[in-house]
Amino acid sequence: MRKCVLITFLSFILCGVEVCAKSIDFITIETAGLNMFFAISENKKVSFLYFGDRLVSDSRTTVLNKEYKLRRDGRPLIPEIFPTSGDFLDPALQLTHADGVFTTDLYYVEHNTINVDDNVSETIIRLKDKLYPLFVNVVFKAYKKENIIAQYIELENGENDIVKIEKIASAYLPLHRKSYYLTHFYGGWGAEMKMKEERLTPGTKSIEARTGILTTESVNSSFMLSADAPAQEGTGEIYAGSLAWSGNYKMTFELDKYGMLHMVGGINPYASMLLIEPGKKIKMPEMIWTYSSCGRGQISRNYHDWCRKYALAHGNEIRPVVLNSWEGTYFKFDEKKVKRMIDAAADFGIEMFVLDDGWFGNKYPRDDDRCGLGDWQVNKKKLPGGIGHLADYAHKKGIKFGIWVELEMVNPKSELAEKHPEWIVRSGNRELLLVRSQCVLDLTNPEVQDFIVETFDDIVSSSPNISYIKWDSNRFINRAGSEYLPADKQSHFWVDYINGLYSVYDRVRKKYPHITIQLCSSGGGRLDFGALKYHDEVWASDNTNPLSRIFIQYGTNMFFPAIATGAHVSISPNHQTKMHASLKYRFDVAMAGRLGMELQPEDLQGDERIFAKNAVETYKQIRPIVQFGDLYRLISPYDEGGWAASMYVDKDKKNAVVFAYSFEFHGRDRFLEFKLDGLDEKKKYKLTELNRIGKKSSFWGNDKIFTGEELMKMGINVNDSAMFDSFVFMLTEVI
Ligand code: DGJ
Repeated sequence: MRKCVLITFLSFILCGVEVCAKSIDFITIETAGLNMFFAISENKKVSFLYFGDRLVSDSRTTVLNKEYKLRRDGRPLIPEIFPTSGDFLDPALQLTHADGVFTTDLYYVEHNTINVDDNVSETIIRLKDKLYPLFVNVVFKAYKKENIIAQYIELENGENDIVKIEKIASAYLPLHRKSYYLTHFYGGWGAEMKMKEERLTPGTKSIEARTGILTTESVNSSFMLSADAPAQEGTGEIYAGSLAWSGNYKMTFELDKYGMLHMVGGINPYASMLLIEPGKKIKMPEMIWTYSSCGRGQISRNYHDWCRKYALAHGNEIRPVVLNSWEGTYFKFDEKKVKRMIDAAADFGIEMFVLDDGWFGNKYPRDDDRCGLGDWQVNKKKLPGGIGHLADYAHKKGIKFGIWVELEMVNPKSELAEKHPEWIVRSGNRELLLVRSQCVLDLTNPEVQDFIVETFDDIVSSSPNISYIKWDSNRFINRAGSEYLPADKQSHFWVDYINGLYSVYDRVRKKYPHITIQLCSSGGGRLDFGALKYHDEVWASDNTNPLSRIFIQYGTNMFFPAIATGAHVSISPNHQTKMHASLKYRFDVAMAGRLGMELQPEDLQGDERIFAKNAVETYKQIRPIVQFGDLYRLISPYDEGGWAASMYVDKDKKNAVVFAYSFEFHGRDRFLEFKLDGLDEKKKYKLTELNRIGKKSSFWGNDKIFTGEELMKMGINVNDSAMFDSFVFMLTEVI
């Protein structure tokens, strides 16, 4: 029989007969504006067909009549929904059965779509290995209004023995275009989310993290793929993905000999073999997809809308203006100093005071970063009245109170490390390698998870007036290993750690749904939708220098909205970069995110104090537009020229805020001219310059009325030519 098939196949090739495959049915995933199609062929293989703008005509006819060439091994030249090992592509699934067979061959079983609610539908495509009772569910959650499709994989082991998973991705996307341009994000501490676009060439490009924690500090798990041309803001086809996972990840982009691009993304298989017991099921993290045929601006707006609704705590609530103590005092404070800061915060119109690192530890007082971490009892010498006393004090001043924690970590010089050395992540008897003088607690261990939840409980219950937690994590994992996991499950460490962390987040969130939690990991080291959904915002970077922040916020806001982007005004010269910048420039940059201050308020006196107080009030007026509006990027800081500009437009296009920055000297006679976007052509808008120095506006168009059409077609010009000039404009509809 086998011989016969082979002869028939060879004769097709030899005769030069065109060999084709046809589909007999198809599956569609759809949002208001997008479709994804999969074909089911006669032999029950499920193949990927299409992802893009929603087809309005009867696509069924087209899909069913499309014919595909066969490869030389008889398989159609359209990729399967989830490529497995056994083929020559980079597999999305690679596993070994108890009998040693290490290939997988998946076939269609059934599919089913349910409407979760008016906006969300869920489709499960169930596949089974041809020879083994091993099931793979490819699951899609379609968010209609936001045009987002979340994809993940579930695997069920129906065998009588353990299955060893060497690699299991969350998603696979094949594209067949003339050329592909990948935008990815890179950087390091204080320089997160730098953007890089490159044309993909034959071979494989990968982006990945292997640090367990701080995974997005150097490379983010979000990317965009522009088809046929480099990405533009308002034109061109872009596919984008972001993995909702805070641990090690890997995305590969393989350009094959047929000119097809195969994107496989999910948990990094690095040192992560998973043993799945008989009858057990595992679920992989979600890949959050979107697509735009009109540039990357729409990609960002899709993510922002979706994030505010589905991947951010309290995404529909206005964020307070924060004063964070870190750069103002570092570890050097006492009760008197903190109270003075709270008083000043109230005077500045600030709404939330956050006491950062250094408030705990008695046997080993946390006076620097070398000891005390893990001992979450208030330092009696520094703060004799306790945290509750300070929170109540702030409350009396009309301000909310927040506190810093780093619950996943421990200094070896701490009571916690003395009591529970077995809780520390370590590889057998190997020496511990410290980072920032600290170790990581083993979150695969349920006792450690309980400890963290109980500690959170203790801290929060010390006063009803604690309403904000800054949750930090300042080191990566090296020499991984767990005293809790058995020897044969040590390779589960990387995945179990993050699942342990998510379980902690989940318990904390369920118990304290109203508390504000900031996601911080030495700045933007944990910037992903997996963690963000338990938090209200992210501390985008420890670098508060406005020039650096223009780039960091630009990259961050490609995927994550301004409402979730902590952006603080700090002192000049900047502590991280030593750069000098005017207070106006610092505010103009920070006001494009969730505004805060990160300094000793007493350091601002005279005119600076007046300016800062006014700017805080101004921000309160514009923040509904910044926090809930649509982002339109007008000038990229990466373009030649030394300018950057962007704007936020509220949903009914009645109000907008424009930010423009210069960061090069442009010569005496050059000025910035640019077109606005996202407005209603027919509406009339009054333009008001904000954050002015003194009463006089330096902008000729201040207080003038323009139509949306003029602003978007003719544009405006501003005298933004000195090295650090900046402008903020408010546009308000005039009826
Ligand atoms: C790193 C954070 O990013 C900073 O904002 C600050 O909280 C320090 N840790 C405190 O140790």
